[in-house]
Amino acid sequence: MPNAVVRILMNGVTGRMGYRQHLVRSILAIRDEGGIELPDGSRLQVEPVLIGRRADKLAELAERHGIAEHTTDLDAALSDDTASIYFDAQITGERKKAILKAIAAGKHVFTEKPIAESVEEGQELVAAAAEAGIIDGVVHDKLYLPGLLKLKRLIDSGYFGRILSVRGEFGYWVFEGDIVPAQRPSWNYRAEDGGGMVLDMFCHWNYVLENLFGRVRTVTAKAVTHIPQRWDEQGRPYEATADDAAYGIFELEGGVIAQINSSWAVRVDRGELVEFQVDGTHGSAVAGLFGCRVQHRMQTPKPVWNPDLPTEEDFRGQWEQVPDLDELRNGFRAQWEQYLLDVHAGRKHAYDFAAGVRGLQLVEAGLRSSAEGRTVPLGEQE
Ligand SMILES: NC(=O)c1ccc[n+]([C@@H]2O[C@H](COP(=O)([O-])OP(=O)(O)OC[C@H]3O[C@@H](n4cnc5c(N)ncnc54)[C@H](O)[C@@H]3O)[C@@H](O)[C@H]2O)c1
Repeated sequence: MPNAVVRILMNGVTGRMGYRQHLVRSILAIRDEGGIELPDGSRLQVEPVLIGRRADKLAELAERHGIAEHTTDLDAALSDDTASIYFDAQITGERKKAILKAIAAGKHVFTEKPIAESVEEGQELVAAAAEAGIIDGVVHDKLYLPGLLKLKRLIDSGYFGRILSVRGEFGYWVFEGDIVPAQRPSWNYRAEDGGGMVLDMFCHWNYVLENLFGRVRTVTAKAVTHIPQRWDEQGRPYEATADDAAYGIFELEGGVIAQINSSWAVRVDRGELVEFQVDGTHGSAVAGLFGCRVQHRMQTPKPVWNPDLPTEEDFRGQWEQVPDLDELRNGFRAQWEQYLLDVHAGRKHAYDFAAGVRGLQLVEAGLRSSAEGRTVPLGEQE
């Protein structure tokens, strides 16, 4: 069989995610290995076309990576019938209108999360994609992390017995930008530009929870802006109008209780930037981005609460690492490969726009819970 080539229009590739994760670590890595292998033994090669706002920056990227085409004209790019996929890693606020144009042009669409800024806008995208019959996908990168893959394997093997609870800790200190420059873009801290912790991270937590433990039934959340003033890329002060931390409790179908703290105003005292502790009747696990440690029922110590005596037990030392059995892979690339194979085979991608809308439903329910100070059932807002 001759090899096939798929041309991918990539918008937002000058950004943090678009450049490193999607262009360099995914599409160019696939290209440089000669494409991905198809079931019949032939290969599917990729050919990126860069789209963005600044011609000089795009030209520089194209030159650096040996990419033949780049443009600042989205409409012209979309009218190119030889390109079948549109990818979007722009800032969130720019996404919906670009995706609608791509769908209208008959492109399959893969996008960063959140797919839009609201449930309503997300549903508009779901409807447009369904009507056009395109194959839609949204980034679910956390599911492909080695630590979460180990956790999934433990769940599937029945290791935990009955799962009781999940505790997630995510976050790190994001510098304000006055003395030390911030390590995240300033739009992340402005609600009017699509920023905010809940909008950013509840989309991730929704697919992590629904794919590992059960769909979210209710949310009780408190979203706050701990740092009210920050300094932008030009060193100018601005008001942080978006939440920079969110403390959430999620009740899942099946009865598991998940509690996840997300914060850009916390200093790390963890093995990894995100960790999930899962406790079950038969065993527990703590999974991070890479590692996963476990403690079985029969290895569980019996601590006794006694504030009069210093702790002598090494609690951390009582856990065992789950070994790395698979080759370490970039999660974004792993999902890209699955998406490309789905498009090539003309079948639906598992993590579609509808999953993206469920993520936005959790965002809206979380924000409503925080604003109204109550537990919000999912689906209430529809
Ligand atoms: N999957 C993940 O783990 C993850 C992590 C971070 C961000 N994201 C998502 O990726 C997207 C991009 O985030 P990022 O951190 O790469 O942001 P970024 O600011 O680094 O990049 C934004 C990109 O959008 C482009 N853009 C288009 N219109 C713009 C405008 N009006 N103002 C500013 N930039 C504009 C920029 O040129 C740039 O290419 C967001 O939707 C974000 O939610 C996902």
